[in-house]
Amino acid sequence: MTTILVTGATGNVGAHVVRELRARAATVRALVRDPRAAAARLGDVDLVVGDLGDPASLRRALAGVDRVYLSAADGPRKVALETAMIDAAAEAGVDQIVKLSAMHADPASRLPAFRWHGEVEAHLERSGVPAVVLRPAFFMTNLLMVAEGVAHAGTLYAPTAGRPVAMVDIADVAAVAAVTLTTDGHAKRTYELTGPAAVTFSEVAVALAAATGRWVDYIDLTEEAARPRFEGAGLPDWLAEHLAGVFGLIRDGGFARVTGDVAAITGHPARGIGEFARANAAAFTPADR
Ligand SMILES: NC(=O)c1ccc[n+]([C@@H]2O[C@H](COP(=O)([O-])OP(=O)(O)OC[C@H]3O[C@@H](n4cnc5c(N)ncnc54)[C@H](OP(=O)(O)O)[C@@H]3O)[C@@H](O)[C@H]2O)c1
Repeated sequence: MTTILVTGATGNVGAHVVRELRARAATVRALVRDPRAAAARLGDVDLVVGDLGDPASLRRALAGVDRVYLSAADGPRKVALETAMIDAAAEAGVDQIVKLSAMHADPASRLPAFRWHGEVEAHLERSGVPAVVLRPAFFMTNLLMVAEGVAHAGTLYAPTAGRPVAMVDIADVAAVAAVTLTTDGHAKRTYELTGPAAVTFSEVAVALAAATGRWVDYIDLTEEAARPRFEGAGLPDWLAEHLAGVFGLIRDGGFARVTGDVAAITGHPARGIGEFARANAAAFTPADR
């Protein structure tokens, strides 16, 4: 029986990965820092308490583990935390790591999170542990960051220059992770995960309007007009810089390419923006409605 250790299990993608693995009757162990919060979020799952910053806890968590899903929050410690797990997994003789990375991951990237992913990918390759790298495009769930503005003002703002984005649903990212964790033939592969189509933010506004039954305007911001919004949002500096860079890539057409990897691996079509909007309509609707 293959035992799978899921890191980042309480995260947005990780919680879906746990759910998908359980649906496939896989043997799952979740590495968590706070078992009470994790149990509330994940339900009845085998939990092992540990921290990616504590190598001894990783050695304990990896006992008897065959495969690892690797994801940690973005931030300046990301490379240290994820490479610690790679080293521990290599030492424990794990036979496959599935790493959640990102499209445009590159150790030379000017965008902090893409640079960190690139550095972790390079470390993973050097480790010799057979690896699967998942590089999703822009998550549809990023739209939830501006859901309040859509709900209260009926306005969606972004600096996209009208360029389309092949945004992906995190449920599909998790479904791909679950397939690559439970079946063979994926080692040494890098998958680029997108939705079924590249959509403009005007099309996103139309999808949100259809799902909520309320008019939504899309206002395209210039780079200059958007900068204070990122810088003044109370985000850590690296995240404000990263988000501004992501929209720069979008304006350059860097997220317009659609791949067929989700459908090829999961056997079902990737979820589209309409499905996401319908599933999350409540978040884009005022509470008094
Ligand atoms: N947003 C996008 O458009 C996009 C696109 C492509 C790729 N991505 C990538 O997706 C990833 C984010 O995935 P996500 O949304 O599922 O993550 P998330 O919601 O940010 O969750 C992060 C997880 O990491 C865990 N964690 C953080 N520090 C830890 C530590 N020291 N030890 C153990 N666990 C730790 C957290 O556990 P706690 O509950 O204990 O905090 C949590 O489970 C990022 O790497 C991002 O670059 C994002």
